[in-house]
Amino acid sequence: MTDQELIAAARSAALKAYAPYSGFSVGCAIESVDGDVVTGANMENACYRLGICAEQSALTAAQHAFGLDKVARIFVAGGDGSGDELTGAQTVTPCGGCRQAILEAAQLSERDVEIICSNGEGSVQERHRISMLIPHGFGPANLADAG
Ligand code: THU
Repeated sequence: MTDQELIAAARSAALKAYAPYSGFSVGCAIESVDGDVVTGANMENACYRLGICAEQSALTAAQHAFGLDKVARIFVAGGDGSGDELTGAQTVTPCGGCRQAILEAAQLSERDVEIICSNGEGSVQERHRISMLIPHGFGPANLADAG
């Protein structure tokens, strides 16, 4: 799929968010090394802290579909999902917890996973690598010396 198609997939996934508390819908599309694509959206909870981000929702789907070690590219978009299409001008980058979750996949695959961040209306393409978003991170590779 093209970058534009994957941004569209992330925007469309955001419309399936369950975000009654924040009103902020986030969608994520993950592409595997073989070109398979899964999506996810944020799912909030009345016990606020139990909400799940779009990226972690999509990473769960990725593990089921092709395995975390095959994650190649991650597309994120967020904004107002109350209408027929996602809107909003501000770019969404993964929160700290999601960066840590992406690092798990990145270290498993020994790949500097690419993260393409967009806004609600899909007019932005901000490109990052996980090594830039979480420098000096702690992941499975750092447990090599465990007993
Ligand atoms: N959110 C995500 O799904 N991903 C992010 O990277 C940033 C934040 C969600 C969590 C919450 O449901 C809403 O956006 C507002 O923070």
